[in-house]
Amino acid sequence: MMIVATAGSTDTGTVDDLTAVAALAREHRVWLHVDGAYGAGYVLTGRGRAHLTGIEQADSITFDPHKAWSLPYGTSVLLVRDAATLRRAFSTTGHYMPAAALDPETPDFTSLGVELTREYRALRLWLPLYVHGTDAVTVHLDEKLTMAQLAYHELRQDPAFDLPWAPDLGVVAFRLRHGDAGDHVRMVELLQQRAISLSPPTIRGRAALRMCICSHRTHAEHVRIALDAIRDVAREIHGTTLKAA
Ligand SMILES: Cc1ncc(COP(=O)(O)O)c(C=O)c1O
Repeated sequence: MMIVATAGSTDTGTVDDLTAVAALAREHRVWLHVDGAYGAGYVLTGRGRAHLTGIEQADSITFDPHKAWSLPYGTSVLLVRDAATLRRAFSTTGHYMPAAALDPETPDFTSLGVELTREYRALRLWLPLYVHGTDAVTVHLDEKLTMAQLAYHELRQDPAFDLPWAPDLGVVAFRLRHGDAGDHVRMVELLQQRAISLSPPTIRGRAALRMCICSHRTHAEHVRIALDAIRDVAREIHGTTLKAA
């Protein structure tokens, strides 16, 4: 049995109340896993840390530096509190197996996962951090948090949109106030023609739109262009809807 909490959900970027979930896991003596694939990296920022309080109580955390940290695809991290649990699951023996590391301080990765012959993935994480430092990542993430707040507040002022979810991190989800599922898909298509990529999730059974401000190449000027385009396209769609009515 385990509880899986989310630190940065795909659709809205929302972080669960991790302190409350950790208390529940402790009470029921079950493993607590946190899916921080998108959100855990925000722990570098003050605002992110405030949302992520409680994540330190997890038994395991997934974290993908290839998402919010903008590192190369396939750079995924699993953090496990007690490595002995992995050894119990994955250790194996065979005459072809390499001898365990002689240095007890060196982790024997062959007994910590399913792979025996492994790619040197850690280099993709270590090298950029070595060259640029964690401060560069923190600045990038803080900028994304600020932009998500900007997008949220600007769209909220526009009566064309409903924004029931204030962004915890860098995802801004919203709805067309007067639009059906087809209108939301049409928004995505029309915006795509202007090189702006939103996705149309279904949240609580209703169509929505999702702006994920994540790339290290996305800056305030791009978000402003996207916001202008979103407002324009919404007017265009509402105009057609009203004419048809
Ligand atoms: C919260 C969350 N967990 C896990 C995943 C899966 O990540 P990947 O596609 O890198 O395997 C995603 C992908 O969007 C995600 O948003």
